[in-house]
Amino acid sequence: MLTQTKLQTSSLLKNYSRYPIEFTHGKGALLFDKNGNEYLDFLSGIAVTSFGHCHPKIVDAVKEQTENLWHVSNLFESSGQEKLAASLTDKTGLDKVFFCNSGTEANEAAIKFARKWDGERSTIITAINSFHGRTMGSLAASGQYKLWQGFAPLCPGFKYVPYNDTEAIEYSITKDVVAIMVEPIQGEGGIMVPSEDYFARLRNICDKQNLLLIIDEVQAGIGRTGKYFAYQWSEIKPDIITSAKGIANGLPLGAVICNDKVAEKITPGSHGSTFGGNPIAVAAANKVMDLLDEDCIKKIEMNGILIKEKIKALNSSIIKEVRGKGLMLGIEFKDGFSAKTIASKLLDNKIIVGTSGEQVLRLLPPFIIDEQQIKLFINKFREIVKLHEFISATNSYLEENKN
Ligand SMILES: Cc1ncc(COP(=O)(O)O)c(C=O)c1O
Repeated sequence: MLTQTKLQTSSLLKNYSRYPIEFTHGKGALLFDKNGNEYLDFLSGIAVTSFGHCHPKIVDAVKEQTENLWHVSNLFESSGQEKLAASLTDKTGLDKVFFCNSGTEANEAAIKFARKWDGERSTIITAINSFHGRTMGSLAASGQYKLWQGFAPLCPGFKYVPYNDTEAIEYSITKDVVAIMVEPIQGEGGIMVPSEDYFARLRNICDKQNLLLIIDEVQAGIGRTGKYFAYQWSEIKPDIITSAKGIANGLPLGAVICNDKVAEKITPGSHGSTFGGNPIAVAAANKVMDLLDEDCIKKIEMNGILIKEKIKALNSSIIKEVRGKGLMLGIEFKDGFSAKTIASKLLDNKIIVGTSGEQVLRLLPPFIIDEQQIKLFINKFREIVKLHEFISATNSYLEENKN
């Protein structure tokens, strides 16, 4: 069974555990390793290569841009950035966009913008088990004690409440609180989907208390859940949205989309980034936004429903719950069954998936996945799950009949 190992001879810092596989190229939902093996990618580089590997239209857009211009800095105008900002504001109904390079940077910017907006209040309420990134502000925003180990003192100005619990938020609002920041579905926290009225309740609290509502769409946004942004499963409008991952299909780009009330406090010098909104990443992102039309969004939703139904139909005794929206799905296993083991077995069978904590298998297939590929995944998954059911039943029998 393949496991994530740390190469003893590597000069790379040991902050990642890596599988001993190296991919050399990819096409659509397929990846190929240096030994010529073919893999089905149900992870998309953790919700990044949403239109698959080397999508010809995105390749063309990037090629054209690389032949024309790579970088000039944000001291000059950029029609590519203007176009992308216009489509992001069009899809959200918000007003202005700032570009950076990653999810954590987008959240850092959002934290700064919230503080700048008010000028006095600085505390942001976030959720327990949330993940917003690993730089100092977004690390402190992430409500996961285990991520903080060794990095004290944390950036001050955060309070944590249980996800999907608006009473706890109301209880935590003190005069220094300026914003609430949440993921629309907790990704790293186990594909946790909040109740349908969560965002309406959040919006209501923010309006009553004059707080900003910040939605971290880094993982769930850009079509992943079967809406342009996952908060759009509700009727509300946030004040700030952060985006990254799938926005440029694998090139580094992040975005903060905000309303005018936030934007008007941001003046030249307030914030910036040398590489933010890089022309090549922006060219890829403009193509992503072109490809992400209503038909594509509908297909994401329908394929998500199909995969969920097929997994539920397995009626497996080791699966506790299947949840998520669109192509952001989690399969939670019952106690005693490790999602990492199932993921490793799938990898042995040349299928790439992720995990979210100990118990949850994470599926983030590309939007271009087809029926045959879904079938292949379900068949392999069924085989592995059946084997684990058998082992579990045999072990229980042996335990019960020891004497
Ligand atoms: C919801 C969310 N926010 C922020 C981040 C951090 O993004 P990045 O790794 O691009 O800095 C992630 C990454 O997994 C995420 O899932």
